[in-house]
Amino acid sequence: MNAVLKSVAPGYVKHAKLIDWVHQMAALAKPDQVVWCDGSAEENDRLTAQLVASGVLKKLNPTKRPNSYLALSDPEDVARVEERTFVCSETQDAAGPMNNWVAPAEMRATMNRLFDGCMRGRTMYVVPFSMGPLGSHISQIGIELTDSAYVVISMRVMTRMGRAVYDVLGEDGYFVPCMHSVGAPLAPGQKDVRWPCNQEKWIVHYPETREIWSYGSGYGGNALLGKKCLALRIASVMARDQGWLAEHMLILGVTNPQGEKTYVTGAFPSACGKTNFAMLVPPAGFEGWKVTTIGEDIAWIKPGKDGRLYAINPEAGYFGVAPGTSYQSNPNCMRAIEADTIFTNVAETPDGDVWWEGMTDAPPAQLTDWRGQPWTPGCGRLAAHPNSRFTVPATRCPSLDSQWDDPNGVPISAFLFGGRRSDTTPLVVESLDWEDGVYKAATLGSETTAAIAGKQGVVRRDPMAMIAFVGYNMGDYFRHWLNVGKSISRPPRIYQVNWFRKNAAGKFVWPGFGENMRILKWVTERCGGKAAAQDTPLGRTPAYGDLHWQGLEFGADRFAEVTALDAAQWQTEMGQHEELFRKLEGFVPDELLARRKALATRFAG
Ligand code: OXD
Ligand code: MN
Repeated sequence: MNAVLKSVAPGYVKHAKLIDWVHQMAALAKPDQVVWCDGSAEENDRLTAQLVASGVLKKLNPTKRPNSYLALSDPEDVARVEERTFVCSETQDAAGPMNNWVAPAEMRATMNRLFDGCMRGRTMYVVPFSMGPLGSHISQIGIELTDSAYVVISMRVMTRMGRAVYDVLGEDGYFVPCMHSVGAPLAPGQKDVRWPCNQEKWIVHYPETREIWSYGSGYGGNALLGKKCLALRIASVMARDQGWLAEHMLILGVTNPQGEKTYVTGAFPSACGKTNFAMLVPPAGFEGWKVTTIGEDIAWIKPGKDGRLYAINPEAGYFGVAPGTSYQSNPNCMRAIEADTIFTNVAETPDGDVWWEGMTDAPPAQLTDWRGQPWTPGCGRLAAHPNSRFTVPATRCPSLDSQWDDPNGVPISAFLFGGRRSDTTPLVVESLDWEDGVYKAATLGSETTAAIAGKQGVVRRDPMAMIAFVGYNMGDYFRHWLNVGKSISRPPRIYQVNWFRKNAAGKFVWPGFGENMRILKWVTERCGGKAAAQDTPLGRTPAYGDLHWQGLEFGADRFAEVTALDAAQWQTEMGQHEELFRKLEGFVPDELLARRKALATRFAG
């Protein structure tokens, strides 16, 4: 039967333009039926039971992991596909040299061809969601159309999803249309596979019309379109036009023993321990200190009337990398995922629980690996995929901040920018001013890891940790950052951090994890005007005695190893900054070019 005829919107959907768009998309994709999701527990239970019955999800042992499920994806569909991600602005310059670009008319023709009939034999779900607290002036609404029930139940965890979104939208509220298909139509009678997807993948954004079209993948950021596609690429364009910031940042609160709270954000490239940092447990020597979590991946940040910047976490759940997560590295996260969690591509234990590399010191004697094959220690294969994930509601996080859902956001006192660097950049440095901070963030570099395809250990420039997520020209994005600084009277201080310095023997010197609290304390005290610092060519850094060392044996000699500034390394580094700016030639703000020169002079002097 014609899907358009069957797609009757529920009475509570009053938005004629939205209903019309759903009808148009159904006419194009030709699903067997259209289901308008209401986000209820009953709907979630029904879809989950359906996914279990069809083998997409496996229910984990409820005595070990209550209300938790395991999904194993197609081995070809395991990560975000940056090389298949496109920003289709009207002109190529608007997308800039760091985005893949195809002219919108040409891309629309491709999308229309691919989506024509792509949902045959499947259900098209209409998923209403809010990024950010419902009705907050910082929030945005999206409607995702998808032919994946796994995506629907995941969106229910990761966003505020459901019927209440239509109340906020009313008859003519603004929403971002997000069209998603796994690209695997079923012929009549054709048996479905466990994880349908298509070898051909396209993650497409139209920034001017603020639309998202995603084809061929059912995995993570490719398919949960509220996350990287809406909350970063499209939102970065909205933010540029409206004077705010959409950033790849965690948000945390630091409360000192006097009960004073300071909020800080942190931008780190993928695989730099962002989730661990967002859920940090203060170590010995920090009795009376508390760290609380607002978000671990994305921050939307708007100027407030008092001249400060206020941030919300637009997400409602965590889609975190499992390998390396343990009760040692991140006890709060481990406790969060003890129940109510969807795991994807981790290994399964014989008693129906999950395991991944780094969860315990010794692996279990026997597992089923992420490909569904028998696994034993020493077999030469990884049990869990390096990009395997957990999807868990934020409300399960023991360190969740009491303000996490505040529609006005929380005031930010400091921005931290950090990469993974064996050498060159020190443990922490405070920028001289906003413009200097923007320079440091714009030239952020990080060594590539197994999480990113290609050669490992190579320093890749990842401005503001946003290289894969800015929905417009990176040079214009730098300009926007400079403009935001000018628009506020009480800007946050900007810090560069590096937890990953190695010694001559190739060993990490800084213990990291909870010990990063020592840097957080110094940062928050700097913001409160209470901690000392010394000048270096790079900016202001703590002297050994300016950090709190109680509870950790870390002598001045080791401190020197993680803070030393080596002139020759900085010469190489500055050359790489120049290379980045050359790639963006004609777009880099003059202020940043001047900052590069000033930094070179300071190092020379
Ligand atoms: C993520 C990423 O998935 O940054 O959050 O890659
Ligand atoms: Mn991320």
